[in-house]
Amino acid sequence: MNKQTLTLCAFLPFAASAAKFSVTSKPFGKVDGKPVALYTLTNESGAKVSITNYGGTVTSIIVPDKDGKMGDVVLGFDTVAEYVEKSPYFGCITGRYANRIAKGKFTLDGKEYSVATNNDPNHLHGGLKGFDKQIWKARVGNMGDNPNLTLTYTSPDGEEGYPGTLNNSVTYTWTQDNALRIRYKSTTDKPTILNLTNHSYFNLAGEGSETNLQHRIKINAEHYNPIDATSIPTGIAPVEGTPFDFRKSTQIGKRIDEENEQLKNGIGYDHNFILKEADDGKMVTAAVVTEPTSGRILTVRTTEPGIQFYTGNFLDDLKGKGGKNYAHRSAFCLESQTFPDSPNQKEFPSPVLRPGETYSQITIYHLGLKKNLKKKKSQTQTERKK
Ligand code: GLA
Repeated sequence: MNKQTLTLCAFLPFAASAAKFSVTSKPFGKVDGKPVALYTLTNESGAKVSITNYGGTVTSIIVPDKDGKMGDVVLGFDTVAEYVEKSPYFGCITGRYANRIAKGKFTLDGKEYSVATNNDPNHLHGGLKGFDKQIWKARVGNMGDNPNLTLTYTSPDGEEGYPGTLNNSVTYTWTQDNALRIRYKSTTDKPTILNLTNHSYFNLAGEGSETNLQHRIKINAEHYNPIDATSIPTGIAPVEGTPFDFRKSTQIGKRIDEENEQLKNGIGYDHNFILKEADDGKMVTAAVVTEPTSGRILTVRTTEPGIQFYTGNFLDDLKGKGGKNYAHRSAFCLESQTFPDSPNQKEFPSPVLRPGETYSQITIYHLGLKKNLKKKKSQTQTERKK
């Protein structure tokens, strides 16, 4: 067997109710001369997720639509070379600080730090070579009936200008009911700042579909962070009476092109929403997205206080998987996080991690089907059987 090809299968004949799953891995090319692999976690229904240890990147999530037809709901590329060359953070772990730090500067315990201003004039997603561009160590396993993959990476003290040696582990669990659970854990040997997230771009009608505007989204937030023209938060404001009110499920496209200063600053939606009831690591439902034609429904739950809703405003006819065209606003991201620029904004939740503490966050992306559609289908099946 090729050393890099590994298969973990669970077929437990002695436990009649035990579900089946598999984890396979195959080579996925090289980065800087080093081999990287692609891991696929498949559950009993055949639904699966693939993740590469290059950047901890989720490359595909294949789940059924209302007719039982499998389809891939995240954007990505077929080769690691394309991820290296042109990825706008497709599916990756972003860190050490996801989203922006104003002017690439922050002060911690009286000392000023400078990080790259790779999103002129600000710092974005961990800098020039963030966690999305690192090769992580991989270990496959399972949590009961659910396959998982754990990636680890030690970021040296001073990497990308951030203080402290940071030990990170990210575990992806693919459950039997099609939920991707991502658990992040990090520790440091010096005070530092940290904000990790996953940057998957979803289109529930299938990646490569022309637009995201027909999706309906509900966000569990009464407040959001308005931004300046460089996308740095200017404070906290109520969503009420604005195009940012998604307390009731609303089409993404309904208000996106309204004359509105905030939509202009974000070139659409590219804002942090402050999650209602989020409280020191409590798991809350952040957003529910439905797509009418496929009947798919994405529910995002998280322990983080905020979620960045980004509508793919910078996508611009990018060639993706199978040569498909990824057009402007043809996908959306829901990035669970602490608030952007919080190292510089005292009224935001603190992103500081100190020696002896453990950074911990869990986010779950559940891919389901609209209940009434499922019901209708099973009714039809029963009718057919009659
Ligand atoms: C985040 C940011 C966006 C953009 C994308 C990547 O979601 O908020 O402004 O930088 O990442 O293109």
